[in-house]
Formats: sequence, structure tokens, C-alpha cells
Amino acid sequence: MKVLVIGSGGREHALVRKIKASKHVDSVYVIAGNDAMQKEATIVAIEESNHDAIVQFCLDEAIDYVVIGPEQPLIDGLADLLQSKNIKVFGPNQKAAQMEGSKAFAKELMKKYQIPTATYQTIENKQEALDYLETHKAPIVIKYDGLAAGKGVIVAMTDEEAMEAVQTFYEEGNVKVVFEEYLEGEEFSLMVFVNDDFCIPFDTIAQDHKRAFDGDLGPNTGGMGAYCPVSHISDETLERTYEEIVYPTVKAMHEEGLNYFGLLYVGAIVTSDGPKVIEYNARFGDPECQVLLTRLESDFMDILEALENKKSIDLVWKNKTICGVVLASKGYPGSYEKGHLVKGYDFQEHYFVSALKQTDEGFVTNGGRVMIALGEGESLQEAQSNAYLNVKAIDCEGLFYRNDIGNKGL
Ligand code: AMP
Ligand code: GLY
Repeated sequence: MKVLVIGSGGREHALVRKIKASKHVDSVYVIAGNDAMQKEATIVAIEESNHDAIVQFCLDEAIDYVVIGPEQPLIDGLADLLQSKNIKVFGPNQKAAQMEGSKAFAKELMKKYQIPTATYQTIENKQEALDYLETHKAPIVIKYDGLAAGKGVIVAMTDEEAMEAVQTFYEEGNVKVVFEEYLEGEEFSLMVFVNDDFCIPFDTIAQDHKRAFDGDLGPNTGGMGAYCPVSHISDETLERTYEEIVYPTVKAMHEEGLNYFGLLYVGAIVTSDGPKVIEYNARFGDPECQVLLTRLESDFMDILEALENKKSIDLVWKNKTICGVVLASKGYPGSYEKGHLVKGYDFQEHYFVSALKQTDEGFVTNGGRVMIALGEGESLQEAQSNAYLNVKAIDCEGLFYRNDIGNKGL
């Protein structure tokens, strides 16, 4: 089997490695990939946004399966285009990808089907937004409706911050903004394989670390580290999440005729009223994917086949804890420099790479989140200390990382 992975980040590096390990797979291609993937996949020099060229490549090379990593190509309709040419694809169609692409769409669906989430109001005009804040005081959460790479959410702890957010969000005129009740509790990430009205939920959850700095301080990022399993979130909470969120969401998407085929990410929070949805994503989380696929023993293509045929399959996991610490360019998620030389990247199997570029001197940094260092252990403590050993092996002036990835679980 020939499989093409779309994307270039750490999540896609993990997908490449996992798919390459499948007994069904002979070769893996990646568009656009990054230079650190070259030992594991054939990097194809086509832009991720050039959908016609991607389709042509699949036809020319007789690609058997396309796995789409990031949200943008899903929201731009790449899955629809591939399907129209009878190319098999893992990743939802454009309409179904609205579960991630529009916060207002997702909130409406949750309201209609009574799926537990924060109460909300969608407002498209600045004056109305300011009036709304008169009666809805901080803490309050303000979200840009569309995709914003993790930067479209302001958790305003004071009324001043909320006002400021309104000024920024409506700077360019009338745009859709979602105002949400602030929820308090511990967050976790649950991945679910979905084929229309059928699903295979992961029975292992992961926990991300969204803020840039130790102690959950600083701005929201794409994610600074993750670990799995999350043993301190109880089986009972997980069971409630399946019953009250996962199955009802799959049913709702089916009833709305979304015909979802792909991975659904449920970002959940454990409140005093039970688990609630913070957000849906139409793809694997990054960096959750990197730790979950490291722990997953099952053959990835076996899972996709079961999913296609709506047959249940038990996911088999290593009896280990996995911890992953992201090394990011200093300044991320704001502006940062590229081109710093990375030394010590010797045991490449201990890392997934988001942004390294090969030069004559060696690998140099080439993006915001650069790589994730993995650690495995019998306990979270051991996994964490192994992850940090792999972090410390990397010698690069331009990088920073959090020192407390996994601490919540200790
Ligand atoms: P999102 O992009 O919707 O996942 O939001 C990014 C982060 O903002 C989440 O991981 C939460 O930490 C925080 N957040 C989003 N919505 C809420 C909410 N209603 N209450 C509290 N925190 C939230
Ligand atoms: N790690 C969160 C996300 O992928 O959106």
C-alpha cells in the first residue's frame, strides 16, 4: 500500500512513523513535510495548498490512501476533491470540518442536541458586543469564529481585558465572535475515529499544555507538551464523556447529514457539573497525536479498515506512560527567529519534528514549534524524566521549553 500524508508538523511526523510501521504499507509520501522526515518518507515538493497538484500526484503514483493531518486543507475541501476522483482519504469533508472551522457552527450543533458545553452568544457587531459585556461580566471567554491557529481565543479574567478583546476582534468591522461562559476545571483531549454514525473512541486520553510558560502562564499556543494516559481523570468521568458527549456528537453529526469520516478531537473540561466540551477539532491534536501514537500498539491501517467497514476494533496500547515536551523558538507564539543550528539531535527516534531545515552545517530551526522530545516510562515520573533527558540532549540557542509538562498528573 502507498500512503500519502498531508502536512508538515510534528503531528504529521508521528503519523508518518506510525503508518510506515503498518504491515500493510510499503511506502509513505508526505506533502509538504519537513527535512527531518526524509528517512521515513518521500518528501514531495508540492505546496499543501495546491490541491490540484496533490490530486494529480495521487493519480500518477497510484496512491492508495491519503491521510490529512492539519485543519486548513480539510476546511478548504481537499477531502471532497480527492473523493471526487475516487481516491481514499482519511479526513472529513469540507462541511463536516466546520466542526472545527466555525465555533458558531459547533456551538449551534451542541445547543440543538443538548451536548454539555459553556453557554454562549454569537455577536457580529462591536456595539452589541460592548452592550453584552455590560450584563455579562468577567471572567468571560471571547472567541473568533474562524480558524486562528490557537490565537483566536481570549480568556478575559477582568472586564478591562474583555473590552480590550472586543476592540481587537472587531478592528476590521463586523465579524462573527462567540462569547462564552467561563468554565473552570481540568482539561483533557479525547480522540475519536468517526465514520458517519459509527465511531471508535480512544480509551486513552491525553493532556495538552496550551499556555507558553510554566505554571500555565503566558499566551495560548498550539500546545507546549502532552502526556498520556491521564490516570488522575477517572474512568467514571471518561465514561460520562462517552455517554454525554461523544456518542451524542456522533449522532448529531449523522442527523445533520455531515457524513463525517476522520478523526474528531473533543477538547473537554471536567467541571463540577461533569464533563463539557471546550472545542472540537476535525483532526488529531498536536502535540497529543505524538504521545498517543507513540503509545498505540495497534496497526494504524487496521484501524482505518475497521472504521471503513464500521467494525469494532480494540485499540491496543503499550503498558507505558508517554510524555512529550515541545521545544519552541524563543518568542513563539509571537515573532521569533529562524535559522538557529540544532546540535545533539542524534537519537532521532526520541523526537518528532515540526520545523527543521537541512543545511550544509546541519539542521536549523525553521518555525515556531520546532520539535517534541519524547520520554517513555513505567510511571509518569519516569516518562517525564526521560523526556527531559531528551530535551537536554538538544543544544540550540534559539529554543525554549516548559519545565512542568506532566506535573498535573504527578
Ligand atoms: P479553544 O481554541 O476553544 O480550545 O480555546 C483555547 C483554550 O482557551 C482552551 O484550551 C481553554 O484553556 C481556554 N478556553 C476556551 N474556552 C473556554 C471556556 N469556555 N472556559 C474556560 N476556558 C476556556
Ligand atoms: N493541541 C491542541 C490542538 O491541536 O488544537
